[in-house]
Amino acid sequence: MTDHLTVVDHPLVQHKLTLMRDKGTSTAGFRRLLREITQLLAYEITREMPLTTTSIETPMEEMEAPILAGKKLALVSILRAGNGMLDGVLELIPSARVGFVGLYRDEETLEPVQYYFKAPEGLKDRLVIAVDPMLATGNSSAAAIDLLKEAGANNIRFLCLLASPEGVERMKQAHPDVPIVTASLDRELNKKGYILPGLGDAGDRMFGTK
Ligand code: URA
Repeated sequence: MTDHLTVVDHPLVQHKLTLMRDKGTSTAGFRRLLREITQLLAYEITREMPLTTTSIETPMEEMEAPILAGKKLALVSILRAGNGMLDGVLELIPSARVGFVGLYRDEETLEPVQYYFKAPEGLKDRLVIAVDPMLATGNSSAAAIDLLKEAGANNIRFLCLLASPEGVERMKQAHPDVPIVTASLDRELNKKGYILPGLGDAGDRMFGTK
């Protein structure tokens, strides 16, 4: 993956995203759509995972068949909204190890504050996919990637549902080696750091907390 930003413009992704943006969509609907859309985005972000071959016997004959190579994947959820994207990826890659980064956003400074970090062993040998639905200011995303790099990760991708131009730029400055895959590059951030047109607070919408 060479591009810093990939916007997945597949019609199914765009259709589901419109349903998610609609404020009339229920909590249950939002969660289901997020899981579905995440699977489609995960398909794109894992496109270049290296393959090797293994010998198997089909009912017809022996063959050398493709299989994922080496240590596989670590999926890292940026709490709490990232959790809404875990199931979608885990349905595709059930053997993935899972880590968590807890950062909350100080609503005045918009700066990230860390409260939790737990990552799987052997990060340096894994493709690490960090998930957070909203790449807004990019401050917490960049801080989460800092922590993953400190823990040894050197092959990281960032998977989000919506990105703002400001967030993409912030990530590009801080982590030019981390490709971003998203369903949409939205217009801008408002003064409170929310994405416009966006979909509101992703955590509140998926967990029904507002
Ligand atoms: N986090 C959200 O949940 N929504 C935004 O628009 C920005 C950050």
